[in-house]
Amino acid sequence: MRIENLVERVKNHRCYSHPIFQNWARVNPGTEAIGALFHHIRSFCDATRPGWNLPQGLKQIGLSTESHLLQEIVDSEENHGPELAMMAGHIINRSVPGKPVFDDLTDQIHIESMLKSCSDELLGQLPGYDFSTGLMPQTKKAIQTFDTRKSTAVQDVYKSLGTALALEIISNRQLIPGEKACLIDSGLYRTSFDEPAMHYLVEHYGETGAECQHEQNAIKAVGSVLNTDNSAAIVQGADDFLNNLEALWDLLDATLLQAEGDRVAA
Ligand SMILES: [Fe+2]
Ligand SMILES: [Fe+2]
Repeated sequence: MRIENLVERVKNHRCYSHPIFQNWARVNPGTEAIGALFHHIRSFCDATRPGWNLPQGLKQIGLSTESHLLQEIVDSEENHGPELAMMAGHIINRSVPGKPVFDDLTDQIHIESMLKSCSDELLGQLPGYDFSTGLMPQTKKAIQTFDTRKSTAVQDVYKSLGTALALEIISNRQLIPGEKACLIDSGLYRTSFDEPAMHYLVEHYGETGAECQHEQNAIKAVGSVLNTDNSAAIVQGADDFLNNLEALWDLLDATLLQAEGDRVAA
């Protein structure tokens, strides 16, 4: 298998063309639904940032160039949590007329706890919902994909490389452009790249954004090691990520966006 085929495999997966963000833009969800969506998106994104033992594991099997490429991605993710919370708080503020919900957009803990309350309220009745974290089994499963990074067993290192490749392609081409489409381009929140509270998207979007660099690093790292011995593990890591995120997108879409659409139409 060649790296081009693996990239194509990611692009042909339903996760890559999932309409969740287009549905968000079309449905114009209420403030609580926005809060719940951001709670699950930020919980998932939090789990994708730490490298755990992956850079070390790559070094141990003699792949120090690839280790360096992955470490670069991890380093560039620092401090993205507070900026994502700030953007979520800003969007929530813009979703209601009058007095802002959040006075202080730098108060990450306060914003994130409100997002969780929205999730508890709207999704708490779903089977397996965990009120201590506000996560659903599907969110947890998507998050757990990244636990493989804690292992330095050779097969797990290759699996994690595949996961990293799929993550960065999805981030650069589905997730971040999707957020831009519903949060900025839709006009629903009267936002633009010029606002400090939207810096998270500026940082991540487009050819000069972080995700484009991450994608290039991941393609380089996987492309230089992919061979007949490790391709099954690499493909498995990519597929696990895509299937798990697809299931999370489906659930959020069905419970928070389709339901809202029905409510508005009713
Ligand atoms: Fe990031
Ligand atoms: Fe990334």
